[in-house]
Amino acid sequence: MTPAKENLLYEGKAKKVFSTQDPNLFIVSYKDDATAFNGVKKDTLEGKGALNNRISNLLMQELHKSAIPTHLIKELSSNETLVKKLEMFALEVIVRNFAAGSITKRLGIKEGEQFQTPILEFCYKNDALGDPMINQDHILALGLASQEQIQAISSLTLQINSILSDYFASMGILLVDFKLEFGKDGDGKICLGDEISPDTCRFWDAQTKQKLDKDRFREDLGDVVEAYEIILHKILSKASN
Ligand code: ADP
Ligand code: TMP
Ligand code: ASP
Repeated sequence: MTPAKENLLYEGKAKKVFSTQDPNLFIVSYKDDATAFNGVKKDTLEGKGALNNRISNLLMQELHKSAIPTHLIKELSSNETLVKKLEMFALEVIVRNFAAGSITKRLGIKEGEQFQTPILEFCYKNDALGDPMINQDHILALGLASQEQIQAISSLTLQINSILSDYFASMGILLVDFKLEFGKDGDGKICLGDEISPDTCRFWDAQTKQKLDKDRFREDLGDVVEAYEIILHKILSKASN
């Protein structure tokens, strides 16, 4: 049985998090709000919340097939999902397969260049500081995670990259880069939380290199929701094959 929604615990830029009658479960509600550059650019994109809810849940189900633990329990409605309550690490874990976004400016690399190996980056999840990039020494020194936890998070992240890169490649999409967030469940087990969606990944059409993610919003390219719909349709057509 689905536990009833109780209190709004947190409202972020893209989602609301509610407690439920079950102390181990939360309900996340996806909003239509779009923000970029740490909330400086804002808009409302009708339908984005429902698309991200659907896409993220389908991708987490795909990861479950490879025994990757995620917070997903059950999709409840077009924009709400029942998830395992996690104690989140204050970390954003980024994987880059092709050069795009901040790394092109930071390291002077041309957009689209394929890296010889995937790059793993950690950011300190702190809006007031603009989520600065940190390394493993910072994580240990600040007590954000232990050595074993960093190891487990890194290993899960690279596995997820491999699974999702192959999955999207099979539908003609390049998984350029993406951001993950992890937390600990009630048993101390590390699980993938938050979302995997065109808000948190860069997806390019492999042939045309058309951008099919939040960069359409960041760069004012238009047709943002339409791009997210293309990603959902590709996932659904693969599932029905
Ligand atoms: P932000 O906080 O960056 O504005 P969101 O609007 O997406 O982002 O807010 C969702 C919040 O919920 C994030 O802070 C995220 O870390 C947190 N979160 C995601 N999944 C879970 C979970 N299963 N348990 C607890 N917190 C979660
Ligand atoms: P970046 O190139 O801007 O550093 O972004 C790397 C990846 O992380 C990209 O797929 C977008 C995603 N991302 C988020 O999900 N949230 C954020 O706040 C930022 C800055 C990036
Ligand atoms: N997630 C950040 C924001 O909402 C930055 C981004 O995605 O570009 O402002």
